[in-house]
Amino acid sequence: MPNRITRRAFNASAAAFLPLAHAADSQLEVRVAEPGPDITPMLYGHFIEHLGGVIYDGVWVGRASKIPNVDGIRKAFIDDLKRIKAPVLRWPGGCFADSYHWRDGIGGRRPKTYNFWQRSMPKGVDATEPNTFGTHEFLKLCELVGAEPYLAGNVNSGTPQEFADWVSYCNAPQGTLTLAAERAANGHTAPYNVRYWGVGNESWGCGGNFKPEEYAAAYARFVAQFPTYTAPYLIAAGPSSGDLNWTRGFFEAFTRKTPQGVRQRAPMHGWALHYYTFYRPPGGRSDKFPPEQWYPVLALGMRIEKLIQDHWAAMGEYDPQHRVKLVIDEWGVWYRDDAVVKPSYLFSHYITLRDAVHTALNFDIFHRHADKIAMTNVAQTVNCIHSLFRADGPKFVRTPAYYVYELYLPHMGARSLPVQSQAAGISFTGQGGEAAIPGLSASASLHGRTVTVTLTNPSHSSPQQVSVRLASGSPRGARAKMLTHPDMQAANTFEAPDEVRIQPLNATVSGDRVLVSLPKHAIAALQIELA
Ligand code: AHR
Repeated sequence: MPNRITRRAFNASAAAFLPLAHAADSQLEVRVAEPGPDITPMLYGHFIEHLGGVIYDGVWVGRASKIPNVDGIRKAFIDDLKRIKAPVLRWPGGCFADSYHWRDGIGGRRPKTYNFWQRSMPKGVDATEPNTFGTHEFLKLCELVGAEPYLAGNVNSGTPQEFADWVSYCNAPQGTLTLAAERAANGHTAPYNVRYWGVGNESWGCGGNFKPEEYAAAYARFVAQFPTYTAPYLIAAGPSSGDLNWTRGFFEAFTRKTPQGVRQRAPMHGWALHYYTFYRPPGGRSDKFPPEQWYPVLALGMRIEKLIQDHWAAMGEYDPQHRVKLVIDEWGVWYRDDAVVKPSYLFSHYITLRDAVHTALNFDIFHRHADKIAMTNVAQTVNCIHSLFRADGPKFVRTPAYYVYELYLPHMGARSLPVQSQAAGISFTGQGGEAAIPGLSASASLHGRTVTVTLTNPSHSSPQQVSVRLASGSPRGARAKMLTHPDMQAANTFEAPDEVRIQPLNATVSGDRVLVSLPKHAIAALQIELA
């Protein structure tokens, strides 16, 4: 059945259909006088794992490489992460983290070790971990980019002592512990002051096959003697997708009720939610798809909003003041059984304009829930799943998803603003039957006297005129840019790296409104100066 535009309006914030005020255009109202929570820059974080072509080649090319590098780290990767002000990098996994022993990756003796992902490698491809890229190399990358490091500890095959020693190795002040002297001997005298620590990863699965109450006990042990040279931000391994049993089971075991209220058993600041838009492309290629496969991917991606709401509500049953925030430290589109860019680069899908649209829809959702989310980390930044970059030896290219990070830069650190959108909903037939998505996605923020509005037209067939009205204040001027391409399957390749890129877009001020014409499948960033 063909996709069709309904004659109803979809109100994204209220998730309900409204009568459409003006049949021809989508209408957006931005409530400038009602600023919400700040949009922490941490919503735009990253994740890199020792998996396929992510670290070796994607990030690390080696000091002796002819590929431009800084101390062995690919320079183009550093430069582009700086360009999008990458606020945080999560490392070393993922599933890899729960078999990683940090001592293998420091100093001159780097043993070759088994890599968890060997099991998924094509037959005959060796995935032995050389440990060339270790703690110092990762923290150097963070320093070069200006990003906060987020280290994931090994709860599966590691011990609380090993975890605590890693913290001390990174953070103990110079001249105190022997571990601090060892760090200095390995080239970094000053403490790194790493704040973000993950206590395991996917502990319900590859991270140890724990039951929620077992993991709650393990978590409490791992943080019981956590060295606090630097005030830590501790992140527990939360659920996959809609597994509310994991959330409730953990919090039930982790909190205790006293006459004074509910108490946590141990310090904890973030609860990690993982959600992948798993999609099996019927044709086996994420970049070659018929229009019928466009909306199902976007709709699956948008399910993250309900997961955020559901887990938040479940957490609130045990933590009514919501001291613990959500950390969505793995998200993105994961095409299953899909052709990969290179066989040994596991899960290295072709990223198209559809994935850029998915990225924008997700960021609009994250902004709507800026009060609940402390951080997100896209999985993974290069050569894997929802990549911003593809790298292969000397070749390096930005995918369409990268440009969404560039377009959304002005939202970082700005105050979120409520938006009310009236746009025709889009109905389609998905894998589970009839479904619908809003015909316009938007979010807004305020920084000084500038209102930033990001707008996405997810339609693969119809352009739309959008009228943006400020509920208070009037626009003095406006400028806009957008990411789009006439072909819905458009991607950037090594041969044609600028096929999908940011382009100018006209924005016209008319009274209290700003008008833009969005082509089909376009993402726009509008900046409105207040009078
Ligand atoms: O990102 C790839 C893998 O997906 C991670 O290692 C794991 O945490 C998740 O299952």
